[in-house]
Amino acid sequence: MLKPTINQSCSLNNLLPLHKPFVHGDAINNSSSSAYSPTILRQNTSTKKCNATPARSTSAVGNIKAAVLPFLTKATTVKGVITIKPTIRSALSGVIIGDVADGVSDLLGRSFLLELVSEDLDSKGKRKTVKAYARYKALDFDINVYTYECTFNIPNDFGEIGAVMVENEYSKKMFFKEIVLDNGVTFTCESWVQSKNDVQAKRIFFTNKSTRCCGGALTIIWWRKQLITISYLPSETPEALKSLRAEDLESLRGNGEGQRKSQDRIYDYDVYNDLGAPGLSISLARPVLGGEQHPYPRRCRTGRPMSTKDPLSETRTILPFYIPCDEDFSEIKTVQFGARTLYSVLHAVIPILKSALSGRDKFPLFTHIDLLFNEGVNVPPVEGGIASALPRLVKGVETAKAVIKFETPETLDRDKFSWFRDEEFCRQMLAGLNPCSIQLVTEWPLMSKLDPEIYGPPESAITKEIVQQEIGGCMTFDEALAQKKLFMLDYHDLLLPYVNKVRQLEGTTLYGSRTLLFLTSSGTLRPVAIELTRPPSDGKPQWKQVYTPTWDATGAWLWKLAKAHVLSHDSAYHQLVSHWLRSHCVTEPYIIATNRHLSQMHPINRLLVPHFRYTMQINALARLALINAGGIIESTFAPGKYCMQLCSDAYDQLWRFDHEALPADLISRGLAVEDPTAPHGVKLAIEDYPFANDGLLIFDAIKQWAASYVNYYYPQANLVESDEELQAWWNDIRTVGHGDKKDEPWWPELKTQDDLIRIVSTIMWVCSGHHSAVNFGQYDFAGYFPNRPTIARTKMPDEDPTAEDWQTFLKRPEDVLLSCFPSQIQATQVMSVLDVLSSHSPDEEYIGANIEPAWEAEPAIKAAFEEFQGRLNQLEGIIDSRNSDPLLKNRSGAGLVPYQLLKPYSENGVTGKGVPNSISI
Ligand SMILES: [Fe+2]
Repeated sequence: MLKPTINQSCSLNNLLPLHKPFVHGDAINNSSSSAYSPTILRQNTSTKKCNATPARSTSAVGNIKAAVLPFLTKATTVKGVITIKPTIRSALSGVIIGDVADGVSDLLGRSFLLELVSEDLDSKGKRKTVKAYARYKALDFDINVYTYECTFNIPNDFGEIGAVMVENEYSKKMFFKEIVLDNGVTFTCESWVQSKNDVQAKRIFFTNKSTRCCGGALTIIWWRKQLITISYLPSETPEALKSLRAEDLESLRGNGEGQRKSQDRIYDYDVYNDLGAPGLSISLARPVLGGEQHPYPRRCRTGRPMSTKDPLSETRTILPFYIPCDEDFSEIKTVQFGARTLYSVLHAVIPILKSALSGRDKFPLFTHIDLLFNEGVNVPPVEGGIASALPRLVKGVETAKAVIKFETPETLDRDKFSWFRDEEFCRQMLAGLNPCSIQLVTEWPLMSKLDPEIYGPPESAITKEIVQQEIGGCMTFDEALAQKKLFMLDYHDLLLPYVNKVRQLEGTTLYGSRTLLFLTSSGTLRPVAIELTRPPSDGKPQWKQVYTPTWDATGAWLWKLAKAHVLSHDSAYHQLVSHWLRSHCVTEPYIIATNRHLSQMHPINRLLVPHFRYTMQINALARLALINAGGIIESTFAPGKYCMQLCSDAYDQLWRFDHEALPADLISRGLAVEDPTAPHGVKLAIEDYPFANDGLLIFDAIKQWAASYVNYYYPQANLVESDEELQAWWNDIRTVGHGDKKDEPWWPELKTQDDLIRIVSTIMWVCSGHHSAVNFGQYDFAGYFPNRPTIARTKMPDEDPTAEDWQTFLKRPEDVLLSCFPSQIQATQVMSVLDVLSSHSPDEEYIGANIEPAWEAEPAIKAAFEEFQGRLNQLEGIIDSRNSDPLLKNRSGAGLVPYQLLKPYSENGVTGKGVPNSISI
């Protein structure tokens, strides 16, 4: 059932001609365990999968030399073409590959040693292989790959080719794109093969399709040109490949010891003990994330030495952190690749900005913010390479001085005043950068769950009367609560424990906050109240204040300032939780577990791998320079040095795997209820909720694709339970990668096809739709920082004010707001980083755009993928028509940025749309 073509008989229509038999070339006809010679005829014993009737008897041909009677021989010649992607270094230098020693390898025609492995064992139960050296052929300028060729002499009774073992004779690692044999067998590699000088073990690749030699003792070699998917469940792996499958996985798991080297390909777990730098300064010491005290997902183990100042902390390095070599594409990607661009921003642009803006604090006027887009920041001349890598940011390098000039964000371009308005403040909770925090109010009064002894009275100061006053005329408070018209952005209990600690840091402040919203009859949200809370501190009691949209000047400015505080909370939550934690961070354990436990020939590996591209690389870069102690996030976001601890709290208190699929996420926030009659099985509490409406279309498409795929490879439930690789994978995710939550009762079981569909759909959605919704709008929505300040640096003017402070506020409230906003250095650093984070790489791989070779090789899977692709293509038109529907006021209207973040496809650059398969930036 898994390989339906296997038992078909060979037909003459499917026969391939014999290719130049016994043109030996560079073939080596020996084997590590079972040698073959083209001149020795053997009877084919492999009839397991193809029972072709021989065209002619071969009983009398045993002693006939193959070279004399080629049609009666027992071996055939198969040519192989290997394609290698050039590294950036080799492409730029114009050399072929490698150095002088490698040139010798080329001359000798011994660049790589390839050893084909049969799916069948020989009569003694040993592995059958055929070897050949590959010789450099050419550089193909059209497709920018180097090609190598080799020739194998394959005995008739070799059986199906199931794998190839590769030895790299060069002194440098090489990136193998694919190996194609002219009998139809293809190995899709997309992987580094290290020099044999560095890694002794041969690299193993399994076929993604194969032809079957049906001849055996035939006088004519019968090849059946029938593609066969070689995604095998562990129990169905051909006997001869089982040990290779196990060896490959074992090498990927490593032994958990020692420091990882760049050529390693080992996936192992570690805690986040490398964010701090206690060796540099005690102020840069940070707690370990991961473990009982600060629960957190695991990251890839690098094994760097521990700090002499803190035995719990791993030392840091200025170099990129180790990631398994197959996750590192920096050598073969274009210079515009996101991680490289981000690296350029972090290591070149940020220091320049810091230097140029040194000594400046707040923006003196709003017009000075506009200058960032109109004139830019004058900086000293920069290296030409940086300017070419960052053409959107760095201008004018030919002159004596350069300019870092920002593109006008879409929100500002369409409506300069949108950031100021209340309805836009609310709309962005449904169609902005962080559309996954809003929740339904289900209980009243609003109460804190924190300890009142420490944090003060738990009752919210937002009373029924305040709400009634704000929504009066529409309905009563009780009606609004009963009819699910009240919603909330609740950052009270998460932030309040950090308020006193953050307030001890220089240049910042913090509150716990609640923002109450009312759903109007036109389907838009209207703000009702904002509550800011400070816990008891320094002998002062708890302070809390409720702000409402109001009709007097002082109240109106206080309302604007309260909104700035809430937006800084939402910005921090978005970056630390919705973006980093819920996509980048939680996915790393999925990637590690997949590589440790699912063989590259496992169908679920092949389903998930496209969703994992580049994620470990971008995560390693984030640990190096974004989320580290003193890094960009700590320096520019509201919780300061406590950012990552807060992230750990959110993981501990809020994150649940079973709530990460979009429908479950919506239901958990009260934004939807299950409804089997509704199009996606859920009914939304806010009908015009652009993120949910578009996201459900993508989620459903993913789920259907996953269902077709899973049900094909697992036609019976018992196959899921008995798949030891799959069970080990899921066990690793639950108990190691997310081990701090291993005892949670909500982890889904993995016993049936539906369980598996649910699990893989969740992972695929998180990597694609969820990440795109919270990532690619960052510059459009937060590039003009008054719309989403990352930090609110000053307390509210009415919190224990001095007479002088209050007078300052009354006299020039605009100054108070500008002082509250990020400083010039903070704002421009964030703008630079968001610009890169919002950008699509030229070689982005969008969801449903490209079929994987292994999927294409299997007709049923190919058809399912094409259906998936068709559904995604339809989304473009559906989203366009939604955005032009005037009735959908949360995505269509004067000056609004249309909601395009979940449109599947995009051009390069910052476009505010496009859903890549994976978290690549
Ligand atoms: Fe991201």
